[in-house]
Amino acid sequence: MTSGGSRDDLGNGLAAHSLAVLREGQHPSGAFVACPGYPIYQYAWLRDGSFCAYAMDVSGEHDSAAAFHRFVASTIRRNLGPGTSGEKERRLPARYTLTGELERLGEEDWPNFQLDGYGTWLWTLRDHRTRGGTLDTGLLDTAGRTADYLAGMCHLPCYDCWEESGDRRHTSTLAAIIAGLEAAADLLDRQPLMDRAASLRRELDSPAHLRDGGYVKHDASGAVDASLLWLSLPFGVVAADDPRMAKTAERIGAELTGPGGGIRRYLGDEFYGGGEWTLLTAWWGWYRAVLQDARGAREAARWVEAAATERGDLPEQLTDHPQFGDRVEPWERKWGPVATPLLWSHAMYLVLDDALARL
Ligand code: BGC
Repeated sequence: MTSGGSRDDLGNGLAAHSLAVLREGQHPSGAFVACPGYPIYQYAWLRDGSFCAYAMDVSGEHDSAAAFHRFVASTIRRNLGPGTSGEKERRLPARYTLTGELERLGEEDWPNFQLDGYGTWLWTLRDHRTRGGTLDTGLLDTAGRTADYLAGMCHLPCYDCWEESGDRRHTSTLAAIIAGLEAAADLLDRQPLMDRAASLRRELDSPAHLRDGGYVKHDASGAVDASLLWLSLPFGVVAADDPRMAKTAERIGAELTGPGGGIRRYLGDEFYGGGEWTLLTAWWGWYRAVLQDARGAREAARWVEAAATERGDLPEQLTDHPQFGDRVEPWERKWGPVATPLLWSHAMYLVLDDALARL
C-alpha cells in the first residue's frame, strides 16, 4: 500500500486548483454553477451541486457546503409551494438559475424532470451533518418535504442523470432516491420514509434492475452505465465489495473503459461523440481506492491529471477517443467546445484525492 504523502506535485497542484475552481464557481447565493465557461451550463444543477458540496465537506470547506445546503433549501421551499404530499402532479426541475429561479428554457427544449438530484441532495445533507454541520429547523423541514415529494414521485419514469430516456426507470436514479429517503428518515426519525425506501430496495433487486447477478442501466436495458458505481459510492445502497456490485463494476471496467484508459458513460453515447469522462474516471478510481486497489486508484488519478488543460482545468470529457467520430463536431458547432472547467469533474477529483490519501 502506498501512502497519500507520495502524491506527486501535479496531483497536489490539481487538488488546490480544483478547490479554487469550486470556490470561484460558487455564487454568493450558495449555488454552484455547472461550468462558468460553457454558455448553456450557467445553471445550478442539484446533482452537480450536491456532489460539489460533498467534495467541499470532504476537503474541510464546511462553510461552502453549508451555504449550498441553505441555497437548495430556500430554492426548494420557494418552488415546492405549500403542502407537498398529495401534490404529485407538481414536478420540480433538475436545475435552477444561480439565484434559485426556474430556468428560462422550457421542458420541451431540455429534459428537466429528474429525481436523482433531490435524493442526492438529501444524502449529502445528512453527510454534512455527520461531518459536524448544523441543520436548523428550516433545513430539516425542507428535507422532510423533499422526502415526501420523492416518496410521492418515485414510481414515475423520469430522465436519468444524463438527462436522457425520460420514459424509463433508471437504476442509479432509484439508488439516489433510496439513499435520499433513508437519509431523511434518519435525519427526521420518520419510519414511513424508511419503509418506502425498503420497498424501493426490493425493486432494485428485481429483474428490472438486477440481471445475471449485476445491475443494469434501466428497466428496459441489459447494458451497464458508469453511473451504477453510485449505488455503492457514495450512496452505500450496495456495499463496494458486494458480489452484485463487483459484477456490475467488472462490466463497467471491461465495457466502458475507452482506448485512452478513461471511463465512458455507456455504450452508444453520442454526446460529443461519447468520449471518456473525467468525473467518471475519478469515480472509478474512488471505487478502486475503497477496494484497497491502490494501483488502480492511482492510475485513474493520473488519467484525470493528464486530462487537465495547461492551467489545470478539467473538462467534462475528452474527445480523443470518441465512440462516434462524426458526432463530435456537430456538438461543438451547436454548443461550443466541451464544457471546461466542469465543477463536478473537479469535485470528483477532490474526492478521489481524499480517498488516495487514506490508502
Ligand atoms: C450531464 C448532466 C449534468 C449536466 C451539467 C449534462 O450534460 O448529462 O449529468 O448534470 O450536464 O453538468
